[in-house]
Amino acid sequence: MQSYANPLLVLPDRPLPRSVAVIGAGTIGPDIAYYLKAAVPGLKLCIVDVVQEAVDRAVRRLHDHARKAVATGRMSQAQASRISENVVGTLDYGAIADAEWVLEAATENLHIKQTIFERVEAIVSPRALITSNTSSLPAEQMFDALRHGERATITHFFTPAWKNPVVEVVRWRGVDSSVVEYLRWLFCFTGKVPLETADVAGFMLDRVFTNWCNESALMLDRATAPEIDRVSHEFVHAGPFSVLNLTRGNPIMIAANTLQARLEGEHYLPASIFGSVDRWVDAVPGGSGPLSADAAEAVRERLLGILFSQSMDIVDRRIGEPADLELGCRLALGFKKGPFEVMNGLGEEMTRRLLDRLSEERPGMPTQKRPFAAYQDFLRHVLVDEVDRIKVITLRRPEALNALHDDMTDEILSVIRRYESDADVKGFVIVGYGRAFCAGADIGRFPNVLGDPEACIRYAHDCSRLLRHLDGMAKPVVAALNGMCLGGGFELAMRCHAIVAVDSAWMQLPEITLGIVPGIGALVVPYRRWPKAAAIFDDLLRRAERLTAKHAHELGVIDAIADDYAGLLALALERVDTISGHVKKIAEGPVSIPALTPVEPKAANGDRLSSEVIGIMEKAVRDAAAASTFADALEVGYRAFARSACTAAAKEGVAAFQERRRPDFTNTP
Ligand code: COA
Repeated sequence: MQSYANPLLVLPDRPLPRSVAVIGAGTIGPDIAYYLKAAVPGLKLCIVDVVQEAVDRAVRRLHDHARKAVATGRMSQAQASRISENVVGTLDYGAIADAEWVLEAATENLHIKQTIFERVEAIVSPRALITSNTSSLPAEQMFDALRHGERATITHFFTPAWKNPVVEVVRWRGVDSSVVEYLRWLFCFTGKVPLETADVAGFMLDRVFTNWCNESALMLDRATAPEIDRVSHEFVHAGPFSVLNLTRGNPIMIAANTLQARLEGEHYLPASIFGSVDRWVDAVPGGSGPLSADAAEAVRERLLGILFSQSMDIVDRRIGEPADLELGCRLALGFKKGPFEVMNGLGEEMTRRLLDRLSEERPGMPTQKRPFAAYQDFLRHVLVDEVDRIKVITLRRPEALNALHDDMTDEILSVIRRYESDADVKGFVIVGYGRAFCAGADIGRFPNVLGDPEACIRYAHDCSRLLRHLDGMAKPVVAALNGMCLGGGFELAMRCHAIVAVDSAWMQLPEITLGIVPGIGALVVPYRRWPKAAAIFDDLLRRAERLTAKHAHELGVIDAIADDYAGLLALALERVDTISGHVKKIAEGPVSIPALTPVEPKAANGDRLSSEVIGIMEKAVRDAAAASTFADALEVGYRAFARSACTAAAKEGVAAFQERRRPDFTNTP
């Protein structure tokens, strides 16, 4: 079966499961069960263990999750009830006979796991999937004895499994590739971020995590656990010892590093202190301690050394893709930046120095094998696939619903530039990963430019490099909206040469709710491209109304609508073919637009808005329509963005988003 970087590009060879069994009633088993129940409607779920009390506790934990989701407004009572029904806790393996997927999350012990798989295989159908949540044991050791090992692999979740999006999916020697593709599809389809890894001890992310923790423990002769945690806060949200406390991870550390030492060399042996300590003394983030600056620097360097050593090794041995490692470290392990981003920030010389020092202190640890630049040569924010000679570019920043920033748009542009004069490539499709096409420009980057008009204009120009390139292209680029398409994401879609969408997709220009105006085309393009929809865009802009895919289709903004992701891709590919050779340019000269009807400064949801910013927006729409060239019209938009970004409303709107509260524009004009 063909494999794609974007897991949703495969056509799954089986439907979503109707019956799943989770073996193991510890903490992670019920958390995985809860995720599955929330993600797969109507699922029958069985939790199996050997102790009735543990089973009861696990079922209670699942119900508690659902109750909490209702109490915190994350879920309706009806959804929670659906999650809580059809859940069985049992000691009887006979109850799992109809399971289409058995997910083992029992004790981290090879013999126990092998015994479980043997029992499971005797009961379930030969086609039922069998997966293990082991964090370190290679698949080959666990599944080699199975009669149908080709349907078995590792699906490794991270704590808390109901919420942490990352799941490692292991491609081992004996597994059928269709099983790996199906699991990647299923996880992505249900809101997780599957990362494929090779079948080695610790897979990808635990090699980073356990060695980071082991190295920390080996440094306890130089600094205390709280001190090491504190030094690590430069790179991670929670220090190694506080994570080990939280996850009760000491026994796992011993198991994982002993295994790695057995398979890969004694330098991986766990620090002996793991056997004698139950709980580390917690560090208070941000607190200060007596550690000298030199000692703190030595700890910092060693932590970075091990992080770089493991990361380079993972990439050199093709255990995982560098972009997946970056993403996994951030999403699953709580790193503030991916390891290659940290390396890039420090530069080649410093990276080499840290690795040399690690090699001296920890002989045998992997080190740099290729030129520094080779480790930096990968796309971080987009996935690229080829289907029917069309390049499919998938926006992948799941932590920010694929929000765009200049590095990301530059990556998209680099892919387009690389292939646009390749005669074998017919065109491009841009689609989103997960539930969003794109949630707009990355609001996190706004504070750097707010209040500085020149910086704002530069920022708008930088963000527009891709869009200006699209304007001039002859080869088609089709936007495939798989979900919400907001702000800058909508501005990107507007500049693609056709737009298709799933029927649940929706569009919005929410900038006015942030106290700013959309600066890179939304004040200009709709009036030139879809003049009949001018009045609708007036409201989208000034009231942040939502536009459904169906309505957009009626208006001619969207060319075609699909039922699901697979249908969407098919439509997008077809569209590339249809418009090939007929890519339309956006109107160059001035355009006439209907007079803007006055509006109350109120958003569609009733929230008060800034009249000043609405005024900036209206003037820009009029000036842009009257501009003699399209380029001049865009410039009007950039300047209007800059003007809006210097208002008190912008300060309030952006701060409110970052503080996760509703903006209060009552004291802004
Ligand atoms: N820039 C940066 N981060 C963004 C983002 C953006 N445009 N849109 C969403 N995110 C982040 C959120 O901050 C959140 O991060 P966190 O988990 O670290 O807090 C994450 O993506 C998920 O978003 P969340 O708000 O939890 O999801 P939701 O389903 O409740 O709401 C939206 C989705 C899109 C309605 C909401 O995120 C939103 O209003 N985003 C801003 C959209 C916008 O104004 N875009 C135009 C920018 S010019």
